[in-house]
Amino acid sequence: MESPRAVLLPQFVMLELTNACDLACRQCPYHGEGVVKRRPIGVMSEPMWQAAIAEIHSWDRDVVLQPWGMGEPIMAPSLWQVVAAAKRSSRVEVGFYSNGNQWRGPDVEAALTSGLDWVTFSIDGIRREVFEHYRVGASLDRVLGSLKALATARRASRKTKPEIRINMVQYPELHDHADEFVAAMREYADSVMVSRYRKAGDRRFSPIALPRIPCHQLETIMAIGWDGRVGQCCEDQQGEVLVGWFPRQSLRDIWYGEPMQRLRRFHAAGRWSELPLCAECDAWTGSLERVSERNGMRVRERTATTVYEFQKEAGA
Ligand SMILES: C[S@@+](CC[C@H](N)C(=O)[O-])C[C@H]1O[C@@H](n2cnc3c(N)ncnc32)[C@H](O)[C@@H]1O
Ligand code: SF4
Repeated sequence: MESPRAVLLPQFVMLELTNACDLACRQCPYHGEGVVKRRPIGVMSEPMWQAAIAEIHSWDRDVVLQPWGMGEPIMAPSLWQVVAAAKRSSRVEVGFYSNGNQWRGPDVEAALTSGLDWVTFSIDGIRREVFEHYRVGASLDRVLGSLKALATARRASRKTKPEIRINMVQYPELHDHADEFVAAMREYADSVMVSRYRKAGDRRFSPIALPRIPCHQLETIMAIGWDGRVGQCCEDQQGEVLVGWFPRQSLRDIWYGEPMQRLRRFHAAGRWSELPLCAECDAWTGSLERVSERNGMRVRERTATTVYEFQKEAGA
């Protein structure tokens, strides 16, 4: 079988500080309706995240560290310590997704002082009944309050970081809401991403059939669970295709270990349909992008998302 080409250390590392969540969003691939959790709920220990950050700092490459996974990162007591520790290296960018439902004053403060590069608030539109139907347990007012508090504090501090991003999953009821939502969020955010809605467990992104290529995730992204298990990629929410355990193996050894290399060999040979997670997945289309300019925004269209980037002046 064809050998995979030389692979660099991962550009993106997801460090799941916790898979616990205060919400149970109806369509969440991990906490959603009818989803059976095959991993226990827990929190990453300090020795584990310290070891992961130390190893990443020793790598001779720039890394985007994302201290979140299948939970709500604000619920991890170590979150801001982890961000600050990771930012001790200028080669590490740090950002995470949050449901925005639990932010308090100290979180806003820490977001400005810890070195955090970006945060993405998940806000599924501003039609209250739709938002609260899908994001079970969330309050639209609280979430918008978190967004506005951070935007206001950042403006007052005249900082440009953290970059404030928003992700809206476009549920069927929101098919005509994107323009209205993007316009409403422009005052508070640097960009808005509109994501294609997928049913929990569905790993299909693209609305059109494209000629298949080896998946970029196997060469760029490492996803570490709170208990140290490393699954094959971001689409392995249950950690079913185990490729290693950290820290009994180093991150480097896991990345270049036989289970990962085998997956890459299968992809290089076009044998993705023989791999359980890959057969029904098209996350590999995520590396394709079309960029245009529209109404003072840069628009990045991908198969699963459209990102609207606003042009803002420093400190604005
Ligand atoms: C699984 S969450 C974890 C982080 C955090 N708890 C949050 O909600 O932002 C990561 C992202 O997946 C999105 N998401 C959840 N269910 C989805 C679905 N069925 N289709 C597409 N995106 C989904 C969420 O809205 C969120 O932006
Ligand atoms: S807030 Fe995030 S992790 Fe929690 S249930 Fe909703 S989508 Fe899932």
